[in-house]
Amino acid sequence: MTKETQLVFPKDFWWGSAWSAEQAEGRGETGKAETVWERWFKEQPNRFYKRIGPDTTTDHIHRYQDDVQLMKQTGHNSFRVSISWARMFPDDGIGEPNKKAIAFYRDLFTEMNNNGIKVFANLYHFDMPAALQDQGGWESRAVVDAYVRFADTCFTYFGDLVYHWFTFNEPLGPILGSYLEDFHYPNLIDFKRGAQAAFFTILAHAKAIEAFKKHQLESKIGVILNLSPTFPRSQNPADVKAAEIADLFYTRSFLDPMVKGTFPEKLTSLLKTYDQMPVDYQTADLTIIKENTAQILGLNYYEPRRVKARLTAINPDGPFLPDWFFEHHVMPGRRMNEYRGWEIYEKGIYDLCIDIRDNYGNIEAFISENGMGVADEERFMDKQGKVIDDYRITFIQDHLAYLWQAIQDGCNIKGYHLWTFIDCWSWINSYKNRYGLVSLDLATQKRTIKKSGYFYKTLSEQNGFSYDTDLLIR
Ligand code: BG6
Repeated sequence: MTKETQLVFPKDFWWGSAWSAEQAEGRGETGKAETVWERWFKEQPNRFYKRIGPDTTTDHIHRYQDDVQLMKQTGHNSFRVSISWARMFPDDGIGEPNKKAIAFYRDLFTEMNNNGIKVFANLYHFDMPAALQDQGGWESRAVVDAYVRFADTCFTYFGDLVYHWFTFNEPLGPILGSYLEDFHYPNLIDFKRGAQAAFFTILAHAKAIEAFKKHQLESKIGVILNLSPTFPRSQNPADVKAAEIADLFYTRSFLDPMVKGTFPEKLTSLLKTYDQMPVDYQTADLTIIKENTAQILGLNYYEPRRVKARLTAINPDGPFLPDWFFEHHVMPGRRMNEYRGWEIYEKGIYDLCIDIRDNYGNIEAFISENGMGVADEERFMDKQGKVIDDYRITFIQDHLAYLWQAIQDGCNIKGYHLWTFIDCWSWINSYKNRYGLVSLDLATQKRTIKKSGYFYKTLSEQNGFSYDTDLLIR
């Protein structure tokens, strides 16, 4: 016998979803500088699933008015976009701001506000103007300054329309992709240069916050981080140590400086030991980082991180990598989203929130991404073309139940945003895995609300749902 209870979320909870400019807008006619994604696709289209690049994507730039209506129909009271730096500064990311881009974003944000949808605006989602990458990207102080100018321009032109701001989405992603794991342009393998880029990204975050404060807006500014709670394979001290080091590299590296304003000492001392510290960091930079921390935190949660002590010796001639200190642990019995290769572990969302409550001053936070990408969803279409995605509804409910529990236990969580709204372009995976509440027919651009989209509307209207909490692992 199931004992379902109504899980009610706090008043004014933010129900919504998120996506990014490069993944959804399409190029359009406003003028836009070439981005690193457009450049990489031009150079190596074979690296992208079915050779589909970022030029068309979900064509939001031409369809935003209809899309806002779809947001309403799927229960959104808030939505996160990113503002394209390359569109705002079509002259290679610098020069004069683009009037047509300003008009586009002002129209979009006004349309959202008029329909009761709060605008969450993110300033950087992996989309560096290619010409600035040629100058060193995040390894360059000049690029940091150009980014701060872009941010400041956005505060000026959109400050009256945006509810909350974010300096970066998943700043760790481009560092891993570009410098350690070969999934972002320019595909280098060089930890020390990655450390420099990471440091300047953190500096850019702090400098953007410093600029933001001068505008005296009512909104807040923060950052969105992809965080996975780290679990050792066992309590064996070697596994525990491996987990602690993995956690320093992947969790504390950005969380500590961006939220607390300081770098974890254990991480810096490890980097010093292996001669991997950034070359250019100054006392004045550390002061700016210390004084300009996030006011709100977005948590992207997809999967846990499971690690164990290394079984094999490292190759001393190979490049330095975090994996020198641990190996990934494939936990027997784990459940997987096989399409994406990510473990599904709902309780991780709870563990993550508790970490923020206990170790980061219970800063105001929300789940800024969580979601399930599934391939070939046409298999699940009914005769009217609606995707019957019960798996996604279950996924959302099972995560939300733990989120609800975290809120009961005192976590300062203000909302939940799903990845994503309408199926959008997933970087090198292109349109392989679909994440949306609304399906996209790429050939015709036709949008159709999925079963999960109707579920989401009811969820938002009722500000909760009914669930058997005996199912939760305590
Ligand atoms: C998040 C990113 O990490 O995961 C999104 O912020 C991304 O940009 C999403 O699309 C899903 O990952 P992927 O690689 O399947 O697109």
